[in-house]
Formats: sequence, C-alpha cells, structure tokens
Amino acid sequence: MKLVQKIAFGIGAIALSTGVLAQDAEITYNEHVGQIINENCVVCHREGGIGPMQFENYDQVRPWAPLIQLKVASREMPPYAYDHGIGIQDLKGDWRLAQEEIDTITQWVNNGSPLGPVDIVPPAPILPDLDAWNFEPKAW
Ligand code: HEC
Repeated sequence: MKLVQKIAFGIGAIALSTGVLAQDAEITYNEHVGQIINENCVVCHREGGIGPMQFENYDQVRPWAPLIQLKVASREMPPYAYDHGIGIQDLKGDWRLAQEEIDTITQWVNNGSPLGPVDIVPPAPILPDLDAWNFEPKAW
C-alpha cells in the first residue's frame, strides 16, 4: 500500500469508528438492555429464583452492571456449558446470548449503564412458575 493510501485508509477507519461510537452511546436499558436481561436472566434472577440477586428492573440491575458485563462477556452467564465456535451451534433451547447481545451489554456498561428514555418500558419477561422451573429447553 502506498503512503497516501495508508493515510486515506487511516482517516476512513477513524471516521468509521467514531460513527460506531456515536451509535453505541445511545444504548440504554429501557431501549435495548432491559429486554435482553428480561428474556435471558430474570427467569433465575428474580424474587425466589435460584440466582443470588434480582434483575427485575433497572434499579436492581444497575449496581451489578460491571459484574454483569464481566459474566456475560466471559459467557459464564447465562449458565450454559457448551463450546462456542466448535461443533454444531444451531441448538434447540439454546440459553446462550448472541454475540450482538453481549456486545450491546458490554457497550452499555462502558457508557455508564444509562436508563434511557423513561417513556419506553422494556417488554416484560415471560416466566414459568417458580415451582415449574427446570432445565428444559426454553418453552416460555
Ligand atoms: C439458569 C439460571 C440462571 C440464568 C438464566 C442466569 N443466571 Fe446468573 N446466576 C445464576 C446462579 C445460580 C448464580 C450464582 C452462582 C454463580 O455465580 O455461578 C448466578 C450468578 C450471577 C452473577 C454473580 C456472579 C458472581 O460472581 O457473584 C451475575 C452477575 C449474574 N449471575 C448475571 C446473569 C446475567 C446477566 C444473566 C443473563 C444474561 C444471568 N445471570 C442468567 C443463575 C442464572
């Protein structure tokens, strides 16, 4: 690559990455993260659930945001012991988060875990009865 091309490429890359950052800054609990938590975590992290803390609303989630980021990025939460990137990945009843969901949570925490617009409420989780809870593939 010629030097001029390299410089042009560099400027392009900076423009691109700032574009992505501007978008990332808009990730909020009410618009994006709440739904991911409700769909994937609240089943265990709720009053009477097996998780040690509750994630039923922003006030409960917010203090745990850095630990949530860590556990989600390392794929320790939700608990699902299955190799990532090896073997069949199209599983039935898969508990794992999509990479995009992990990235969304990671960025949200990096941005200070904002609540977002108060008039937007994340969709409520659909939960089985606590006594009916089991490790069956998600049917709810
Ligand atoms: C199948 C039930 C289940 C689901 C689903 C689940 N958790 Fe957990 N979680 C647990 C249990 C049990 C523990 C306590 C034992 C442990 O830390 O492994 C825990 C612990 C944690 C902890 C504390 C870890 C620590 O080191 O103290 C965090 C943070 C967490 N979960 C976040 C999440 C998030 C975020 C999700 C959704 C993306 C999620 N969990 C989904 C059951 C669950």
